[in-house]
Amino acid sequence: MKIVKLAERKKIHKAAELLLNSTDAIALTGAGVSTESGIPDFRGEGGIWEKYKPEIYGSFKAFLKNPKRFWKMAERVAPKLFSADPNPGHIALAELEDMDIVKAVITQNIDELHQKAGSVIVYEVHGNINRFTCFGCRASYTKDQVMRKLKKEKHYPPQCDVCSAPLKPSVVLFGEALPTFEIYQSQALAGNADVMLIAGSSLSVDPIADLPLYTLGNGGKLIIVNDRPTHLDERAEVVIRHKTGMVLPLIVEEIKKIQVSAESGESQIEKD
Ligand code: APR
Ligand code: ZN
Repeated sequence: MKIVKLAERKKIHKAAELLLNSTDAIALTGAGVSTESGIPDFRGEGGIWEKYKPEIYGSFKAFLKNPKRFWKMAERVAPKLFSADPNPGHIALAELEDMDIVKAVITQNIDELHQKAGSVIVYEVHGNINRFTCFGCRASYTKDQVMRKLKKEKHYPPQCDVCSAPLKPSVVLFGEALPTFEIYQSQALAGNADVMLIAGSSLSVDPIADLPLYTLGNGGKLIIVNDRPTHLDERAEVVIRHKTGMVLPLIVEEIKKIQVSAESGESQIEKD
């Protein structure tokens, strides 16, 4: 186990116990789980919204007015997204799904790193950077098709081959509706969860920021792993203020230790 202070070790142990004893645990993740993969978050240290004003670059209305400006930002940010690999935090969450402890990951991230790490039940509530749609006729394009178009046509924004309307990445911008199924499913899962593991989110964007309240309303417990405070810290059972890439694997390690000692305890009883 990495050198962590005794107090943190106690919290990691408590989080491990909560997850091990849960029956309907889910994870809710934000951009903070991907910063250790080289993708900047939005509101943390050096976040995207420090450089690009969200009301100009992140809003649906602004995209309608000036899609070219949005694409200019996307051109600078996207390469980091496309070349990123999952980090130990993503891998730990995939392992918790493999152990049948985490039943689903609800993610605000658009980078597909949970899936690349092996997580299967992933609900992308803010869409996904690898799909693009046409604003006019709703034609859908893959990332490779759009990259080829940009290279060949050298035109921003890339236009639809069918109706020449601008293309938009299938990510949810401010003021845009969230994907219905993912939202309803996330609310149902959160309302049924006995433990919600929240990792790398400032919990500042509705309606996702409300999901932990669904779990609390169900009498469920919150575990928050974030390197900065969130407004729900005082309602969480466990708050670990460290990097997700370090803490999440330690929680998985701790779960395995508890399982081993329980098994050896049982076999001890059988021997006696
Ligand atoms: N480990 C732990 N916490 C981290 C790490 C890390 N390695 N890196 C960053 N953080 C923390 C930041 O301090 C911040 O509190 O993760 C949090 C990330 O918060 P945001 O940047 O607000 O990201 P997120 O919560 O996902 O934002 C939600 O807002 O702009 C929209 O659509 C965008 O999906 C995004 C949504
Ligand atoms: Zn079209």
